[in-house]
Parts: sequence; structure tokens; C-alpha cells
Amino acid sequence: MIEKLKKHITDLKKFESQDLNEIESLKIKFLGRKGIVNDLFSGFKDVPSDQKKEFGQKINELKVLAQKKYDDLKSNIKKSSKIISEDFTKPGFPITSGSLHPITVIKNRIIDIFSKVGFELSEGPEIEDDWHNFTALNLPKHHPARDMQDTFFIQQDPDILLRTHTSSVQVRYLEDNPPPLKIISPGRVYRNEAISSRSHCIFHQIEGIYVDENVSFADLKQMILYFTKSMFGKSKLRFRPSFFPFTEPSAEVDIYWGLETETDYRITKGTGWLEIMGCGMVDPNVLENCNIDSEKYTGYAFGLGLERIAMLIYQIPDIRLFFENDIRFLNQFK
Ligand code: DAH
Repeated sequence: MIEKLKKHITDLKKFESQDLNEIESLKIKFLGRKGIVNDLFSGFKDVPSDQKKEFGQKINELKVLAQKKYDDLKSNIKKSSKIISEDFTKPGFPITSGSLHPITVIKNRIIDIFSKVGFELSEGPEIEDDWHNFTALNLPKHHPARDMQDTFFIQQDPDILLRTHTSSVQVRYLEDNPPPLKIISPGRVYRNEAISSRSHCIFHQIEGIYVDENVSFADLKQMILYFTKSMFGKSKLRFRPSFFPFTEPSAEVDIYWGLETETDYRITKGTGWLEIMGCGMVDPNVLENCNIDSEKYTGYAFGLGLERIAMLIYQIPDIRLFFENDIRFLNQFK
């Protein structure tokens, strides 16, 4: 009997809980009407008389201990719940919503403008092969125009590279789809251009291509006019003859930005004109490389840089701001 009693005391001393239900049942178990303490008291008469004294003391010890344990555990719970309830009165952390990156905003606007006139979206891989990025676009190996786009190659394999422009998606789409076809391809491109701290190796382009019977340069001019009106609200354009291996003839498009503010002077270098994209009639070699009959079909293509457009629209002075992920910069595009 006395051993049992001692065991109850050690068990009780060890008992810990934060759970109110557990603590309440502990009290009932020891101090309840049919609890351990009462049970032991009723067995008191059977205890040999030489042990009665010690037994009595131990029962009392158990009784006091059980009550104390119960009180302590309960006041602990009260203390911790007090802390929690005090927290409820504090103001919560403000939850702020994020915003789209300015490049994404501009990309979505351009996609919107072109999809209104029937351009579909097509995307291609950023890791490309030589054929889709260069050769099929009329840039055979050792063609000097490859130097226009310094390339990152993947490991030692000169055939696998990070695409230098989204024109590679033209080739993929032309290979898989018979004309008429009309697509735009936004995406990230890479150039090995760490020549100054201002130049950047990663940027974004949107490529467009339209191939059908009787597509002419006039169609191209009209489409670009529609685009510049919708995007910038400006319609004074200038087509300057240029060279791209994948188009013939090729042009670069300038818009008349104006010379109203100091910024206008700065970004147009005092001329009022701004270059915004490259374009031209798809070179017949490109069509033939993609198994499209260049006698029957013609097409136009264009390519523009998203960073440049975003810098113009938002008057952003430095391209590096797009890549720094500075919250103070990004928050301004909500
Ligand atoms: N791929 C050219 C570049 O990255 C941009 C370009 C120019 C695309 C003329 C075209 C085009 O489709 O016709 O600089």
C-alpha cells in the first residue's frame, strides 16, 4: 500500500500539461469523490498500525501536492492565455498586395494590342540550337552578322546556346505550321555583352511575324502605325533602311517622340526621334529553310526590345533598375 502511495507522489510530481482538459481530469483522478486520495483514505483502516503514522502523512502529502499541482498548472495556462489575449489588441501586420513587374505590364499591353488584330501567341525555348537561332535565319556559320549578337554557348557544345533573340521562335513556328500564320513571341533573350557596367546580358523582346499570300511592305507599315498609335499615341514614323540577315528589305523604325520636355531632349539626343524596332520582309531563304514555298508566300517580321519600350513609357533612366528587384522601384507600378 505504502509503495503504491509513494509511486503516486512521484508520478504526480512529474506530471506536466498545458491542456486544460488534462489538468481537470488530473484533479478528478486524485481529488475527486471516487479519486485516489479518497480511495487511499478508505483503505487506512487496513494498514498495519505501525505504518499508520507514515501512511497518514503520505496521504496528506499527496492530497496537498495534487491540489498544488492543479493550481500551478492552471495558473500557468491563465498566464499564457493572457499573453495571447493581449496580442489580440495589437494592430495586425499590414498585408500589402504585390504588383506586376513593369516589363510584364508592357509585355501584356503589347500582346493585347497585337491580339486585337489576330496575332496569336507562341513561345519558344530559351536554350536553343544553332539552327533555330542562327542558321535557319539566314545566318550561316562564319557569317559576320553573327558578331552583332555575342552569344552564350552552353558548355563546350557550340550547337547549344542561350537564344540571342526571339526570332528563333519564328523558325520553330514556320517549321510546324503552314501559312497563313500570324504570331507574336515574347520572351527573355541573352547576349554576352558585359562590355560596360551599363550593358546587360539578359533582356526581353517581342517578335512578330505574318506570312501569307501577297503580304507587302505596305501591310508592315500599316501594322506598325497601328501599334505605335495604340502603344504611345504617336503616329509620326520614319523607316530607315537597315540590315538584318533574316529580312530583305530591312528597316529600323523611328517614332517622332517630340521635344517638349528636357527628358525628350535627353532621350532623343536632341533630335526628337527615337528608334523603337527592327523589321522587314521575311527573307525567302528563311521561308525555304522552313519548307515554305517562297514563290507563293511572302511575309513581314519585326522585333522590339521590351526594356526600351518600358523605359520610354515610364521614363526610367537606367536599364539596370529592371533587374535589381528593389521594392521601392517595383512598388511604383501598382
Ligand atoms: N532579331 C533582331 C534583334 O534581336 C530584331 C529583329 C529585327 C527582328 C528585324 C525581326 C526583324 O523580326 O525583322 O536585334
